[in-house]
Amino acid sequence: MYDSSRSGLVLQFLMLAALGIVCSQARLSEIYFNDIRAEEAAEQASGSYNYDQQGKDWEGTCQDGLQQSPIALSSSQAIVTSARRIAFYNYDETLQSPLVMTNNGHTANIVLPPTRNGQRPYINGGLLPGTFEAQSAHFHWGSSSSKGSEHTINDNRYDVEIHIVHKNLRYSDKTVAEASEYWDGLAVLGVMLRAVNRVLSPHLGLIGIFNQLPQIAQYGSSTNLTGRYSAQQLLASVNTNHFYSYNGSLTTPDCAESVTWTVFGEAANLPRRHISKFWDLQDSREQSLVNNYRAIQDINDRPVYYIPK
Ligand SMILES: *[C@@H]1O[C@H](CO)[C@@H](O)[C@H](O)[C@H]1NC(C)=O
Ligand SMILES: *[C@@H]1O[C@H](CO)[C@@H](O)[C@H](O)[C@H]1NC(C)=O
Ligand SMILES: [Zn+2]
Repeated sequence: MYDSSRSGLVLQFLMLAALGIVCSQARLSEIYFNDIRAEEAAEQASGSYNYDQQGKDWEGTCQDGLQQSPIALSSSQAIVTSARRIAFYNYDETLQSPLVMTNNGHTANIVLPPTRNGQRPYINGGLLPGTFEAQSAHFHWGSSSSKGSEHTINDNRYDVEIHIVHKNLRYSDKTVAEASEYWDGLAVLGVMLRAVNRVLSPHLGLIGIFNQLPQIAQYGSSTNLTGRYSAQQLLASVNTNHFYSYNGSLTTPDCAESVTWTVFGEAANLPRRHISKFWDLQDSREQSLVNNYRAIQDINDRPVYYIPK
């Protein structure tokens, strides 16, 4: 039917195609592993700090900044406004596997890979000054006897606060640490979790993550999250049209004032038996990594916006 030179060509084509696929995957995971290295470098650069005094002993901008986070959010004191919805892109797309989750001594940190289509989840709208790509996610928690969200809402502290860290597309050629030198460098989404004994909605993605926390109990350890994960799962199905927004800072040293905060007003319920796995993590001193939240900071005349349901 066909001569050997033709089949040779076909074979060559197939081999090139296969090589192309391998290369594009290798390129993407290289991007991912570069991101992981950048996070490690940023973590090193932030120096050694702990939560013994909820950050009151941290120095530099953490001490003298006037636009610091977290703050006490209040629906009656905030400026009620309307805003465009926050638009989520690629949030429901499956992320490349694995996701690497690390105990960096301060939190369980997940560097987010691109989706299987090679794109990143990204957001715009709301009060965001631009379009922001998802880079990483981490958690703040309490202990068996205390709650550990960073922001409070109407004087309520929640059990856990998830932070999904995004970087402005304007700074796509810069690392997260470099982007944090600009006022519009970063956008963080805050999602509150409430620990309950009985739960109706299962939040399987988050529970898959929590189930692997025992593998990173030790400081410096990492685990590969291999299931099907999407950025959407980190939102825990909260109503994303209802939120607080203000200009603030990173809540860990160097407390750079580069974050447009969006904190969703509605908390999600998660089983206490899963949330309790956070309390077994250890810091670099081999002490329990609990209550890893920073104390509430002064608002200092900043506008805080509230977008009701
Ligand atoms: C995670 O997966 C990568 C390859 O994708 C591998 O090199 C690494 O050793 C794995 N880490 C763990 C802790 O299993
Ligand atoms: C953040 O600050 C910028 C620049 O001053 C301002 O234009 C913007 O409205 C502020 N955003 C929020 C949410 O306060
Ligand atoms: Zn955080």
